[in-house]
Order: sequence, then C-alpha cells, then structure tokens
Amino acid sequence: MKTGQGYLSCDGRENTMHFPHIFQEGRIGSVALRNRLIMSLYPTKYATDSEVNERMIEFYRERARGGVAMIVLDCPCLDYPNAYKGPNELRFDTPESANAVKNLLATIHAEGAKAFMQLNYPKERVFDREVSGSKQKGNTWVAPLVRIMTAAEAYEVIGVMANGAKMARELGYDGIEVQASYGDFISQLLSPLSNKRMDEFGGSLENRARFLIELIKAVKDKVAKDYPVMVKLVCDEFVEGGLTLNDTTVIARLAEQAGADAILASGGNKATKHMTIPSHYLAPGVLIHLARGIREAVTIPVIAVGKINTPDLAEKVIRDGDADFVAMARPLLADPHFPIKAQAGMTEEIRKCLYDLEDCADGGIKGIGRTCTVNPFSGQEYRLKLTSAQRKKRVVVVGGGPAGMQAALLASQRGHEVILYERDDTLGGQLRISAIAPCKEEMEAALQHIKYMLSKTNAKVILHKAPTNKEILSHNPEAVIIALGSKPSLPNVPGIDLPSVYDVNTVYEGAINLGKNVVIVGGGDIGCETADLLAEKGMSVTIVEALEEPLHRMKDIPKQELLKRLKSKNVTILTSTKVMAIGTGKVIVETKDGSRKELATDSVIFSTGSISVDSFADTLKGSVEEVYVVGDAKEPGNLGSALRSATAVAITL
Ligand SMILES: Cc1cc2nc3c(=O)[nH]c(=O)nc-3n(C[C@H](O)[C@H](O)[C@H](O)COP(=O)(O)O)c2cc1C
Ligand code: SF4
Repeated sequence: MKTGQGYLSCDGRENTMHFPHIFQEGRIGSVALRNRLIMSLYPTKYATDSEVNERMIEFYRERARGGVAMIVLDCPCLDYPNAYKGPNELRFDTPESANAVKNLLATIHAEGAKAFMQLNYPKERVFDREVSGSKQKGNTWVAPLVRIMTAAEAYEVIGVMANGAKMARELGYDGIEVQASYGDFISQLLSPLSNKRMDEFGGSLENRARFLIELIKAVKDKVAKDYPVMVKLVCDEFVEGGLTLNDTTVIARLAEQAGADAILASGGNKATKHMTIPSHYLAPGVLIHLARGIREAVTIPVIAVGKINTPDLAEKVIRDGDADFVAMARPLLADPHFPIKAQAGMTEEIRKCLYDLEDCADGGIKGIGRTCTVNPFSGQEYRLKLTSAQRKKRVVVVGGGPAGMQAALLASQRGHEVILYERDDTLGGQLRISAIAPCKEEMEAALQHIKYMLSKTNAKVILHKAPTNKEILSHNPEAVIIALGSKPSLPNVPGIDLPSVYDVNTVYEGAINLGKNVVIVGGGDIGCETADLLAEKGMSVTIVEALEEPLHRMKDIPKQELLKRLKSKNVTILTSTKVMAIGTGKVIVETKDGSRKELATDSVIFSTGSISVDSFADTLKGSVEEVYVVGDAKEPGNLGSALRSATAVAITL
C-alpha cells in the first residue's frame, strides 16, 4: 500500500498523511477548495425535458461524496430557443428548471464540494436554407458560427454568455469555466486553422483571442470582479499549422490580465480528440507538459488534465510544480471515491479506469445511456443500491471470470455466505486473456482490483475445480449463480478442422507455433488486438473481415489509434471479404464482387464471436430456491455487460 509522509502526533503515535500535495487546500480566485482534485466536465446527457432529475443528482452526489474538491457541470442552454440542443440539454431559464439546478448545487455543496458551470455557446447555426459556408445535414443546413457571425453578433453572444454567468452566480454555482478547448466555438476562434476572419476577431493572435478576452472582462463586469473564472484552454492543437504552446502561453497571459483566475490546460481539437480524451493507447499524463508550460507563463493557478490515472501521478504533478490542481473525468466515473480512498491510503481499493471509452462515450449503452465499463453503478446510482441483505443466504457462484467474481464480491459485501468455484488455477477468465494484447495493462489492473476486493471479503474461493451438481448441492445453497462464460464460435467452413486452425483464445492460452504468416479471421476488437500482438512479435498478419469496416464496435478514439498501430506494423486488413475454405498453407477468400483469391499462410486464427457455455442451470432448478445465469453464460458481450448482469443479480439476492 502506498504511504505518504509520516509524522508523530502528540501521544507519540505515528500518523501517515497520504498524498500530502493533493490533500492540501487550494484556491481558485475567491473560492477555497478542500483539496487539489477537480472533476473535469463530463456531459452525462442524463437530463430529461431539459431538467435536472434524480439520476443526475445521485450521480453527482456520489462524486461529491467521494471527496473531489470541485465539479465542473455542463453548460445549460443560454439562449433558448435560438441555441437549444434538445431535451438532454439543461435549461435554467424557467422557475422549474432553475429550482432543479439549485437542488443539484445544494446536493453537491452538502457533500463539501464546489460546483462550477462551464460557459459555452454552440459552435454551429442551423438554417432551413443554404447559406454561404453551410453544409447540408438532412433537411437543414449547418454553418460554423466562427465563419458567419458578424462582429456585432460576436458582441451579442458575449452579452448572452455574460448573462449566463450572472444567472449561474444567482443560482449558486461557485464559479465559471469558460470553454476555450475541445474544438468548441471559442477554441475555433483561437485557432488559425478555423478562424479565417478578416475583422477584429480574426488575423493576429490578439485578434483571435479577442472574443475570449472580452468575454472574461464581460463576465467580471456583469457578475462581480471576485466571481471565479477558470478558462479551459486548448494549449496545443497537435495539428500542423494549429495552435502550439508558444501561442497559448500568450493567450493564457492575456486571459490572466483580463481577470481569469485559473487555466485548465487541455489539448487537441476535433481532429485530434485522441489527445483531448486519451485512450489506453496513450501514456498516462500526456498533457501534463502543457500545464507546466502555461504555469511558467502565468501567476494564476493552472490545472493539469488528461489520463492522470493514479493518485501517485496526481501527487507528482503537484509536487513537481507542473500544475496547482489536477482535473480528471473518467477516473471518477470508474470510481467516484478515488479521492477519499487515496487520502486514506487505500490505493488498491481504487477501481481504475480502462480508458477504453466503451460505455461512457457517445450514447453509452442502449437503454441505459452513459455509464462505465468497470463501474455498473455509474449513472445508475439512483436505482442500483448495494445494501446489506435482509436475509443472509448461502450462495454458490460457479465460474471465476469477471461476472462470477463481481457476483461473488457484491453478494459477500452484502453479507451473504459465498463460495466461488473456478475450474482454472487462477481467477480472471476472459479478463486475463484481454490483458495480454499491447496497451491493455489497465485490464490487468481491473483484474487485480476485483481480486483484491474479493480477498477482503469472506467469500471462499475454490480454484481448480469445476463442481458437479452434487458438490454444489452439498453446500445447501439458497442461491446459485452460474457464470461459466463463453467459448469461441467457429464457422462451418471447409478445412476448419485442420491443425493449423486455431480459435483466438488458444493463441493467448498456450505456447503454440503459429509460423511467420498468420491470417486472422474477424476484424472486431479482439481480432485486431490480436493482430497488434502478433505483429509486434514480428509476424506478418492479414485480417479478413466480412463487414465493410474493421472494429465496428470500438469507439472512434481508440479505434483510430489501433488502426494507426496496425498500419505502422504493416498489418493487411481485407474488408468486405469472407473466408470460403482453408487448405494446408492457404486460405481462400471471396470479396464483395464475388471474386476469389488465395492467401498463403502458416496458420489461421478465428476471432468470429463467441457462444455461451452451456449452463446446467436448468438441472439445478427445483433443488435450489434461486438459480441465475450471468455474464457471457447468459449472453456474450463485453466486460461492461458481464459486470452489469452480475451486479443486477447480486444486489437483489
Ligand atoms: C465521453 C466524454 C465526453 C466529454 N465531453 C466533453 C465536453 O463536452 N466538453 C469538455 O470540455 N470536455 C469534455 N470531455 C473531456 C473531459 O472533461 C476531460 O478533459 C478528458 O476526458 C480528459 O480527462 P480524463 O482523462 O481524466 O478523462 C469529455 C470526456 C469524455 C470521456
Ligand atoms: S467506460 Fe471505460 S473509459 Fe469510460 S470511465 Fe469507464 S473504464 Fe473509463
């Protein structure tokens, strides 16, 4: 366990202060913050009818309760109905919606955290006819505001935004974060790539920064000089010809002179979003150097952000003087209690983010919305409660993969008497395998976390044993949870039984000689990650994918990174191509137009989905009160779906 600086108390006992640089008070302008951790904006999209609801309240209550010092909340619509994005966007311009926002702020404040409102304005205007510079989207035309807005309109928008800030203060937000990053409106004005204006808002750096600077001044004039204004600044666009730290240090200084109280050093634009929201393919802390560069240029506090994934790294950032605060978004979805666990030195208990963006980005999960792969409670706090069980039961869990471990963990945390069987000599199942491909270390961390948490419960783990019905029944269980997982499904093509043909799991499980040339059938995430692994070992790899695109389920940010990696390793990807037959040393494939060709290969690996392992749940029904099937054994899916299905059962046992 990580320890901090030790000191002796008056009675001679040694106290340990963990992460002393993080857990010291700080200030942004006039606002005092209890520590140096900030929750960066994560648009939940939970609002319904543009109002705060119970779901949103419980989501933020949990983050505030978890110890973070301040939470940046999404910008409500400032200009209804002109710039209204729909019912998922908050409003605060009606008495009902304003009261709902006040309620949210009161919830956050009651837990000792502060709340800032991001101040933003839509970057596009929608027209019912074609206008100069617009693009057609369905029946409408969309034009970037940065291009079509007149100087007079720019000052109007500044006025609207300053009014929004005034409203924010009246409702009880503790400060404002001006959005000048993320490829949004103000960052488009700052960038020489998107701002081609010839007026006072375009051309020189000072002109491009004018909107931001005038906005900061307007907020200070309209609201109060001491109302905190933090700027989320794009400090490097990571694009040739785009903004660099040389430019943005100047912008940061101008912002400080205009009255800004802090700079949050973000990076990337819409084309380089992989830098804004770094995935598992990027190293932790990829933007910290930007914070350092800005901090050297200004005297106001600077906040570092971007895959700052452990308390150790956050502590280092502040100790080394790279930044005054650390902001994080996804780590607090994965574990809202990251701060208090760190403060208590319980770092092994922190559930780490995978940076896979699988369940937290875009629309999240169908029927659920934005949630988190490793934390099924994320965004579901309002309905999923881990309570102590009213009736303690004997529970047998069969299968020690992610679903089985999660079921056993939560059931024992609730007070049930749990026995977990795993047929292998170690826990983990599919999770162990998925940690092996390059840059998938976070999967190993997820496995270690759940194993550690399980080790702290009374659950009895029996390894190397696939129990028979008789053995299960010998425990007199009141509930049995079957979590046997899934197995690869192989298509019925000629040659599938040849010795050179493998299912993808076999590749990870044993030392097999695949030869120099390998064909992987199936370009989904596992197929492409396996290609990455084998190409790294020096093999020549071809992926054959039946769909028009590989990685059709992977989120765009990691997808682009993985495709870049495969390209750099000369992996060939054949799309819209089907395997028709396998022969010794060859695979016969057919392309969309019906033409066939032969690919020479030493081995063929199938990564074409999986099927549930036949469960014996039915044979237990009648002998056991409650029998459940969870995870892949119920329906093959990703890690998130396995954990969600196990959680749903374990919390209601
Ligand atoms: C799904 C998702 C959506 C995001 N949307 C926004 C956004 O609309 N505006 C914004 O300023 N930042 C947005 N962010 C960026 C975060 O505030 C943060 O800067 C980024 O995720 C890096 O921090 P992290 O590595 O701790 O997650 C988003 C992040 C995620 C994961
Ligand atoms: S879904 Fe993945 S990337 Fe998003 S917060 Fe959860 S673990 Fe992190």
